[in-house]
Amino acid sequence: MLVAITFPVLLKQCRLELGLTQTQLAARAGISVSLVRKYETGTRVPPRATAMHLANALRLAGEERAAFLVAASARALPPVTTQHTPLAAQMASHRLPVAPTPLLGREAELAAITRLLGEHTAHCVTLIGPPGVGKSRLALAAAAALQPLFADGAAWIELAALDDPAAVAPLIAARLGAQGDEAEAALIALLAQRSFLLVLDNFEQLVPAAPLIARLLAAAPRLSVLITSRVPLRLRAETRFPVKPLALPVTRRVSAVAVAPATRLFCERAVAVNPAFVLGVANAATVATLCQRLDGLPLAIELAAARADALEPAALLASLDAGITEFAGGFADLPAHQRSLQAAIAWSERLLEPAARDGFARLGVFAGTFDAPAAAALGVASLDPLVEAGLVQADASGRLYLLETIRVFAAERLRVHPEAANIYACTPTTTPTLPKLPARCSTVQPPLRR
Ligand SMILES: Nc1ncnc2c1ncn2[C@@H]1O[C@H](COP(=O)(O)OP(=O)(O)OP(=O)(O)O)[C@@H](O)[C@H]1O
Ligand SMILES: [Mg+2]
Repeated sequence: MLVAITFPVLLKQCRLELGLTQTQLAARAGISVSLVRKYETGTRVPPRATAMHLANALRLAGEERAAFLVAASARALPPVTTQHTPLAAQMASHRLPVAPTPLLGREAELAAITRLLGEHTAHCVTLIGPPGVGKSRLALAAAAALQPLFADGAAWIELAALDDPAAVAPLIAARLGAQGDEAEAALIALLAQRSFLLVLDNFEQLVPAAPLIARLLAAAPRLSVLITSRVPLRLRAETRFPVKPLALPVTRRVSAVAVAPATRLFCERAVAVNPAFVLGVANAATVATLCQRLDGLPLAIELAAARADALEPAALLASLDAGITEFAGGFADLPAHQRSLQAAIAWSERLLEPAARDGFARLGVFAGTFDAPAAAALGVASLDPLVEAGLVQADASGRLYLLETIRVFAAERLRVHPEAANIYACTPTTTPTLPKLPARCSTVQPPLRR
C-alpha cells in the first residue's frame, strides 16, 4: 500500500508556514515532539482531540481549519471487493512524481481541491489558467494530499508530449497496465470497481478526447479525475477550478516581500542559482516590483530568477522596462513547453483557431485595460476563445487586460502583422495606460493569511 501523506503534508506545510520547528509545535499543541514526528511521517494519525490542538497551535481557522481536520480524520475508502491488489501497486511506477521544490502559498486552493475530490462532491476537477500560472504544481500537491483517500491509489499521467487525441486512451491504458486489444474497454474493465484518482496533466491540446473522460467517469463510479489544462474540457461532469497567479506582497517592505508567495518564489530560486543573493532593505522594493511586473506568474518569476546568477533584480527590472520578458537560460529540467516564456505562450497560441490567433495579435496594441467594444473596433471578432485560453484576463471591475508577459508576446506578433499600421492607427484614443502597480497588486490575490 502507498504511504498515507495527506495529513503529514498539510501538517508540515502549515508548521513551516509559521516558521515553527517540530519541538515548538509540540510545545504549542501540548504533545510530545515524537508524536509530531510520527504525524509528519505518517506513521501515526492523530485522534480528533489532538488534531484540534494542532489546528489551534497552527492558528488555523475557517475553511483551512475544516480542511485540516478532514485530512486528519481521513481514512482510505475500502475497495469495493477485497479480491484485487490496489491498482497503484500494480503499476510500473506507482508513486506520484516528487516536486523538486516546496509548494509556496496555495493553502486555500489546496484545501478547496482536496475537499472537492476528497469528499467526492466532484469527480472531475479541471485546474484552468494561463501558461505557467502553477496548475501542474498545484495538481501535484493536491494529488499527494488526496492519494491516500483512494484505496487503489493515484496515477499522474503527463500529456504535454502527446498531440493526438486518439492516443489518450492507449497512453492511460498503458500507464495503468490495462490489458486488452481495445484501450477504452480495457480501461473501463480495469477501473469500473476501483477507488482511484487519475491525474491528467496538460490536457489543453487534447480537448477532442474529453468525451473519453466522461465515459470513464460514467462507467467507474469510484473514479475521480484531476486535470490541468489551459482551457476547459466542457464536460457536464467537470468542475472548473481557475488558478490565479501567486499572491504578491501587500507592501514593498522586506517583511512583506519575504513572505508573499510570488516574491518568496523569486528569492528562493535566486538563492539557488546565486547563494550570495540576499533579500534586504536595498533590494526588497525592486524584487516586489519585478514580481508585480511579471504579474505573479510563477513560470515568469522562475525564469527571471534563473538569471539572478548574473543579474541583480534592478538589472532584471531594467530588462522588463526595455520590453524584454525573455530571460534565456532557464532551468534545464522544466518541460520543453516551459523552457522559455515564449515557448509557454506559443503553446497556447498554437491551439487557437486562426481568427482568435489574429485577434490575439491585435490585442498586443493595448498597453493597459480595455473592453470588448474597444477590441471589436480593432477587428477582434471574439474575445471568448482568448479569455477561455487564459490569454486575456478580467480585473475586478470587469475590464480586460493581458498579463504583461503575454502582452509583450502579442505586441511582438502585432509588429509583424500585415495590418499592423492600420491597427496602430485605429487604436482608440481612450486606451487607458498601464494600471498603477499598487492597484494591480491588489487585484491579484489576497495576502497570505498570516
Ligand atoms: N506555488 C508554487 N510554489 C512553488 N513553485 C511553483 C508554484 N507554482 C508554480 N511553481 C513553479 O512554476 C513553474 C510553472 O508552474 P506549472 O508548471 O505548475 O505551471 P502550469 O500552469 O502547469 O503551466 P503550463 O500551462 O505551461 O502547463 C514550475 O516550475 C513550478 O514548479
Ligand atoms: Mg502544466
